[in-house]
Amino acid sequence: MGEGFEKVVEELERDLVGGISPTVVDHALNPRNVGSMEDADGFAQFTGPCGDTMEIWIKVRDGEIVRASFWTDGCGTTVASGSMVTELVKGKMVLDAMEITKEDVLSALGGLPEESEHCALLAATTLKLAIADYLRRKGSL
Ligand code: FES
Repeated sequence: MGEGFEKVVEELERDLVGGISPTVVDHALNPRNVGSMEDADGFAQFTGPCGDTMEIWIKVRDGEIVRASFWTDGCGTTVASGSMVTELVKGKMVLDAMEITKEDVLSALGGLPEESEHCALLAATTLKLAIADYLRRKGSL
């Protein structure tokens, strides 16, 4: 058993969720950082071409993103993408966070099926817009 058994379980899980990584399943079922933020320093709402909307709030201290949260009306992979992008951004300096791409979200999630990759793009784009809002409020844009 041991390793062999774990492999079988892994394969079963993969079949059950149609090739979606365990990280995606985890973030879709237990999303981190959900909900609006009262005292946010930056906010954006963006609707992708598929019609799904994401909102992202960020809290910045001394140029560092100390908190981020999100909301979406999208499907499970969109929820997972919002959850992951708000985790990735925590502790990053604003200008470094601006560099986070769809590929970064995808790689942190262990990939998404091709037809769902745009969910990661929605998350990365909304984050960029929230950072742009922060910079605008600060008078840097
Ligand atoms: Fe529309 Fe995921 S299905 S963003």
